[in-house]
Amino acid sequence: MEKTIDEKIQGSAITLQNNSGNDRKLYIESYGCQMNFSDSEIVASILAQEGFNTTQKMEEADLILVNTCSIRDKAEQTVRKRLEKFNAVKKGNPHMKVGVLGCMAERLKSKFLEEEKIVDMVVGPDAYKDLPNLIQEIDEGRNAVNVILSKDETYGDVAPVRLNSNGVTAFVSITRGCDNMCTFCVVPFTRGRERSRDPLSIIAEVNDLWNKGFKEITLLGQNVDSYLWYGGGLKKDFEKASDMQKATAVNFAKLLELTALAQPKMRIRFSTSNPQDMTMDVIETMAQFENICNYIHLPVQSGSNRILKAMNRLHTREHYFGLIDNIKKIIPDCAFSQDMITGFPTETEQDHQDTLSLMEYVKYDYGFMFAYSERPGTMAARKMEDDVPAEVKKRRLQEIIALQRKHSLYRTQQHVGQVEEVLIEGTSKKSDAHWMGRNTQNTVVVFPKENYAIGDFVNVKINDCTSATLLGTAVGLSKNN
Ligand code: SAH
Ligand code: F3S
Repeated sequence: MEKTIDEKIQGSAITLQNNSGNDRKLYIESYGCQMNFSDSEIVASILAQEGFNTTQKMEEADLILVNTCSIRDKAEQTVRKRLEKFNAVKKGNPHMKVGVLGCMAERLKSKFLEEEKIVDMVVGPDAYKDLPNLIQEIDEGRNAVNVILSKDETYGDVAPVRLNSNGVTAFVSITRGCDNMCTFCVVPFTRGRERSRDPLSIIAEVNDLWNKGFKEITLLGQNVDSYLWYGGGLKKDFEKASDMQKATAVNFAKLLELTALAQPKMRIRFSTSNPQDMTMDVIETMAQFENICNYIHLPVQSGSNRILKAMNRLHTREHYFGLIDNIKKIIPDCAFSQDMITGFPTETEQDHQDTLSLMEYVKYDYGFMFAYSERPGTMAARKMEDDVPAEVKKRRLQEIIALQRKHSLYRTQQHVGQVEEVLIEGTSKKSDAHWMGRNTQNTVVVFPKENYAIGDFVNVKINDCTSATLLGTAVGLSKNN
């Protein structure tokens, strides 16, 4: 269940519902975080207006787009390897054009055109509305680049085309960028300053999803707790807003409430929460509405206060424990997952032990764990030496992964014997005779299909488990259908 980088950074080719009349073919692959997958749905929507239908066969594409991730070096290497593959395909189809989107585009800018001869177009995460112009440029035989970061672009007015969708769960982006400046992280450089999307456009999207049969949404942002709508503009400029704007501002707790009220039967999740910005208002709102799921992805990165400080995380280990304890008082069955980095510069064996003991305290349901990868331009890269040897990083990583596996099993075991509501998302990967869905805590549940259907809320008796999956049998439809 613990995801290593190889599992998390997986490309996926995606398909657009065909728009009749469109005669150009787009092949698009996405890497990295959920935001990138969500952005590709915006890009597909913009290009549908430009005469493109998507295809899953890259050989027949007129345009290949790759939405890239810069979070770790390995993510970038994966994309470079894909470019080699696209190069080979392009040899058989000289009219084909190749564009790079996302964080690598923003980080490398026009250098990409020099480094990778196959690339015709480089487009940063805030410049997708310029794609029609950029495509015209490359159609006319010129290279095209737009990596301008924006103060207010949220794509709130673009209706995403749902790609590769199960028709049940969808992402809805609510903020873009990040102002936190964790010293290891490239995101503030590639995705720019933080800005929030108009709540009216968020609710309109949620309503539209419900009308199309979707049953669960995940509100997405680098740091959702920091959401703040005051009429548009950067979060950091809120102080300059008028009194009226301040008085009517919408924060994340309020947005959650508005969403939960707009669609009381829609399951609502959100990601990612930052311990330094999460407020008890949010927890109380979660507790108040049954349709907000009891699960929080709460990255901590390290259990050592010294390392947290060097990472510019504005929370301490004690603050984090206090937050977890308070959440559990209000939502006793709340599940937690973590992100953790091993081998940050200067990390000692004692710091590593602090991480293990923090994990022991929380006993996360699952986690995403990574070895530190130095990213050019970040504060850590500029000021600190990447001094933990690769084999030490790897060994520490293996230790936290092993401990997480133990905790995941402990957590799944607590569900055995319970009856839990599961939203069916699709057929189990391992068996055509079984459905796969999730409970409120986001744990995967597998059970025999019987007469149930995708999108049903089903009460399932949990009989057994692995560290990643609950196994059960349905006892009937839930009242929430
Ligand atoms: N707030 C974001 C975090 C984005 S990055 C979110 O929505 O998830 C996801 C995770 O990648 C981080 O929490 C961190 O654990 C990891 N990460 C970021 N930069 C890293 C680096 N330089 N080396 C290793 N892991 C990194
Ligand atoms: Fe990165 Fe820290 Fe923001 S991990 S995305 S700078 S909260």
